[in-house]
Amino acid sequence: MDPADHSAAEPAYGPLRDGDAELVSDLVTRMSGDGARLRLRDKSADYYRWMYEQNPAGRAFVHSARLGDRIVASFALAPKVFLVDGERVLVGKTMDMFTDPEWQGRGLMRRCTDSVFDEAAGAGVAGWYVTPSVNSYPIFTGRWGYREEFSLVYRLRVLRPGPLGGRARLPTGVECREVDRFDEEADKLWARVAPAHRVAQVRDATYLNWRYVANPDHYDLLELRREGRLVGIAVLGRTRRRGIGVGELMELVHEVDDRAALRHLVRAAAARAERNGCRLLQAWSVPGTRLDARLRRAGLRWRRGEVKFLLSPGFPGTSAADPDAWLLSQGDGNDV
Ligand SMILES: CC(C)(COP(=O)(O)OP(=O)(O)OC[C@H]1O[C@@H](n2cnc3c(N)ncnc32)[C@H](O)[C@@H]1OP(=O)(O)O)[C@@H](O)C(=O)NCCC(=O)NCCS
Repeated sequence: MDPADHSAAEPAYGPLRDGDAELVSDLVTRMSGDGARLRLRDKSADYYRWMYEQNPAGRAFVHSARLGDRIVASFALAPKVFLVDGERVLVGKTMDMFTDPEWQGRGLMRRCTDSVFDEAAGAGVAGWYVTPSVNSYPIFTGRWGYREEFSLVYRLRVLRPGPLGGRARLPTGVECREVDRFDEEADKLWARVAPAHRVAQVRDATYLNWRYVANPDHYDLLELRREGRLVGIAVLGRTRRRGIGVGELMELVHEVDDRAALRHLVRAAAARAERNGCRLLQAWSVPGTRLDARLRRAGLRWRRGEVKFLLSPGFPGTSAADPDAWLLSQGDGNDV
């Protein structure tokens, strides 16, 4: 059969089945062949097993269109525990929206998204956020009424090998250590950090250990202590963008008014990234917010690019439209 002649075959639709991690991995890998722009992270079956099946907030909602032994379209939504206006709510992050080019424009994605959104809403997911590609942006905003309440950019710092050989200069009594995982001290830190943010994913030890320790990708976990007490957490990922090693600041958890902690976390992460051979360090930031001003003062001065960030109709909380309400970092996304 001519591969473009689909008249004889109709895909079958349905939720995630055993063995689909391999098939989704195969689809996404085929699709992002020319698109370093579209995906930066690991696309292995292990990654999909981790993301879809091991999330402590719940299994992902995944629906696919299959033809024989292949998946030709797939869409997923991962549940996330958020605090919104002081309430613990389940929201979602959409991901892995791909239709095989031979099958695009025939309503496959519509079928997959409808099923995922119905199932997620039925399971109590109150709303979701999307970081769309150039291809999916017009679908979400134009056809489905998603809101772009604010813009999101990268703030970055150029790393130059310094005299300390990739070690951070920190004041006496302040220490930054690498750890293998987070424990109950991270929970206590999060309990002190959370009240200052009206919309934020719960960054407790359970979440952080799933996101960065159980993840098949590698991350550096940094704990900042002042007189022995945990006052900050930074998580550093690594990518190559346009041939340059980039340290990706996945997390910067600290009490919002503790500017010294933020400065020291950025300094320590920069030193670690330098040791990893990176030339740039970057973090997500929402321009014009208080957190953005603080990040710039902490040394992430330059602005680069934009990450489109959309909220579904019905995303909970009156604060969600206010960019100053949000604590957002690259860990909330799924490109790294
Ligand atoms: C984006 C993509 C997933 C769409 O898949 P698809 O199977 O072709 O989509 P469908 O045919 O089901 O169309 C879905 C809806 O989007 C609309 N749509 C599709 N392309 C569109 C476009 N370029 N602009 C506006 N609307 C569009 C369709 O009309 C339909 O809306 P409706 O059901 O309200 O009529 C597919 O083009 C793709 O895989 N692109 C490359 C990878 C990518 O960018 N993925 C997004 C990553 S976040």
